[in-house]
Amino acid sequence: AGSLISRRAFLTGVFAALGATAPLAPGRTAAGGAAEWPGAMVLRARPATVSLGRRTVSTWAYGDTVPGPLVQVAAGETVAVRLVNELPAPTTVHWHGIRIDPRMDGAPGFSQAPTRPGGTFDYVFTAPDPGTYFYHSHVGMQSDRGLYGPLIITDPDEPLDYDEEFTVVLDDWLDGIRGTPDAALRRLNSSTGHDDTLRSAALGGVAAELRHPVYLLNGRGPDTPETFATRSGRRVRFRVINAAADTPFRVALGGHRMTITHTDGFPCAPVTVDTFIIGMGERYDFVVRLDWGAFPLVAVAEGKRGRAYGVVRTSAGAVSPLWQAKVPELQRQMLKYQDLNAESDDHLPRPTRSVTVTIGMRPSGNEWTLNGRLADDPMRVRVEPDETIRLILDNRSPMWHPMHLHGHTFQLRVAGSRGPRKDTVNIKPRERLHLDVLADNPGEWMFHCHNLYHQEQGMMGTLGYG
Ligand code: C2O
Ligand code: CU
Repeated sequence: AGSLISRRAFLTGVFAALGATAPLAPGRTAAGGAAEWPGAMVLRARPATVSLGRRTVSTWAYGDTVPGPLVQVAAGETVAVRLVNELPAPTTVHWHGIRIDPRMDGAPGFSQAPTRPGGTFDYVFTAPDPGTYFYHSHVGMQSDRGLYGPLIITDPDEPLDYDEEFTVVLDDWLDGIRGTPDAALRRLNSSTGHDDTLRSAALGGVAAELRHPVYLLNGRGPDTPETFATRSGRRVRFRVINAAADTPFRVALGGHRMTITHTDGFPCAPVTVDTFIIGMGERYDFVVRLDWGAFPLVAVAEGKRGRAYGVVRTSAGAVSPLWQAKVPELQRQMLKYQDLNAESDDHLPRPTRSVTVTIGMRPSGNEWTLNGRLADDPMRVRVEPDETIRLILDNRSPMWHPMHLHGHTFQLRVAGSRGPRKDTVNIKPRERLHLDVLADNPGEWMFHCHNLYHQEQGMMGTLGYG
């Protein structure tokens, strides 16, 4: 099994794992600044001029790239990252999908105060589970400006057989091209909403910018795609991360069927499909054996127009237009949650009780509720330590909602299936899903929609202990 990272730009974000001893207590800041903390990675959140291929934009980024640098360690090792806030606003880093100490979770107002401009914060934690994750700012719409990056926890005993791997980060980009995410949010909030014909699949309002973002794959627009160069016959693992604010993507690789091996970092019983939908905050890993040629890796914006685009290449020459044309048809052989099963059934005791979480839309169309409540007086799910509870998600709204639970994973049960282990689930309009959660990480945790506009329009609840 290989673990080659082939994304050139990611390699420039050098990460050096710490040795056995961490030099600082978690959350503490050394007086002398980053230079006195050798071995740790430094993430500078700052205004930056970033190239998106043909376009150059002024935005906020970690360092000078979007996505930010790869953070990678092996499971069981220490992640040690110093956030240096050079932004004109407070910020945090959230380690999406990682089951860690709540003080390291980067959830402002829950477990840590945001880091002020000019300040630093040291994130130090042990990576518990191997898999594909990402990190992002958890303050307002900051993530949508480019404050996100891939987080990969490798498995020291990797059971999956593959020769090479690539990471694919998807985004819907506004900032510096079509207004800012904050302006789009203001427009949503001031619109009367409620005209279904003007809505995107994910969105609950009207904001023209949001219907025509530039779709990015690894920070590049479709006119200057990322190329993944390799050799035919190789088994290649793709780690796909949806970091977009408002766009689920339908992913396909021209000429190939994909064997899905992981959902949200955790292994699932392998299932081979032509395409799958990835909601915001979800991750899928798939493996393919590559043919000879050049193939489009497309991520079609679900319910909108446009696509993110990459090229997988095992030979010289152009991408065949045949594959391009075929991709939209692939919806018919699409992965469904029902097709996914956990690799084994043993991580979770049976739930002892259930709690219903109803997703609703206020008549304005600009507010999204959990059990009728908005973020300022949130829904609060209470659990006892070490119990397993079933959350019954009941979507009574006309929109998709990628619901994300911090600090935990859940087992998704669809129609009695032995469902996959996940931390984010993209619930469709009027769908009901069962999420079995093992409450094994005491704290007060966010449970929210990963459509960042919905999150900012109230769709934020909590799961807490006692
Ligand atoms: Cu990636 Cu609370 O989010
Ligand atoms: Cu939502």
